[in-house]
Amino acid sequence: MSLEIGTVVLKEGLEKRYAVGAFNANSAEYVQAITQAAEEEGSPVIVQISPGATRYLGLELAVAIVKTAAEMVSIPAVLHLDHGVTYEQNINALKAGFTSLMYDGSELPLEENIKITASIVKEAHLRGVPVEAELGKIPKIEEFEDMLPADYDYSYPPPQDIQEKVIELMAKPEDVERFVEQTGCDSLAAAIGSIHGMKNDVQPLYLKRLREIRQRTDIPIVCHGSSGVIRTRRDVEELEARGYKLSEGWGCMEDAIKEGLVKINIATAVSMSFLRGMKEAWNKNPNEKDSRKITSPGRDAMKETIKGYMRLFGSSGQIAITPKTEELEEVTEGPE
Ligand code: G3H
Ligand code: 13P
Ligand code: ZN
Repeated sequence: MSLEIGTVVLKEGLEKRYAVGAFNANSAEYVQAITQAAEEEGSPVIVQISPGATRYLGLELAVAIVKTAAEMVSIPAVLHLDHGVTYEQNINALKAGFTSLMYDGSELPLEENIKITASIVKEAHLRGVPVEAELGKIPKIEEFEDMLPADYDYSYPPPQDIQEKVIELMAKPEDVERFVEQTGCDSLAAAIGSIHGMKNDVQPLYLKRLREIRQRTDIPIVCHGSSGVIRTRRDVEELEARGYKLSEGWGCMEDAIKEGLVKINIATAVSMSFLRGMKEAWNKNPNEKDSRKITSPGRDAMKETIKGYMRLFGSSGQIAITPKTEELEEVTEGPE
């Protein structure tokens, strides 16, 4: 299929109460893993490219890879700009063919964030492209490096002083209506307790805040930093059995999807799967000279991780697939 517009897949998810995974891609291997996982799961998907990935790949090549990969599958795939932090990054992505944008003005005072988001929304809407905007700030774990215990191993949530900082940075319910109205944004990356870049899924989400935000707007709510979020009720129970009691109003990803969370951003967990798959292959054969023998298991590991998320998000099986492989075989068969 040709690239889908972001709002189309999110609207479906919102109506049917499932979430769409938005997976960060840094190279062709990621794009293949993401689109093939989506095809095999019968799931809509969002491939997202950050400005860092754009610098690594080049904007034109990034668009060409995702566009071609989307055309090779029969599920809807969106090409989304992740954390565009300037007006120019957004406009360049828009002109290059992205079908969904994000402006992250979380470092700016609220008024400035509103002003720049609104100017991007105006341009994007002229071309029928939606814009996600950030309210509050979803921090990176690196920002708390000096507050983390030296032996912190991501087997439990970051300590209380970090949790307090995360709470301070959350989206404020009283800003929601004005922010959405004045920016005209199409979806909201609301800070609700997650932290970017966590190496394991142990951080709870503040469901009470998600609920308060959802009462004030009906546009789709996006969860960033989702690699670090506790996945299921069972995982909560397992954490609690180890002595980490969740505070009132906090919960896991499974709960948040039931509360109407509709776009879930995953970068770190996929990147770590790629590295793990490659490391295992390399350890098995440290004398390998064909790089594909190492990257291919890495790509397979990413695909499995992504499929697991699609099942958790409830997006698996939402799209009826018409397999393309058979058509391909027929076309490529040469004369007898
Ligand atoms: O939230 C952002 C993603 O983790 C991607 O960031 O490509 O700049 O490392 P990066
Ligand atoms: P993680 O790397 O923590 O999964 O965050 C992804 C993200 O929010 C991309 O915007
Ligand atoms: Zn993010």
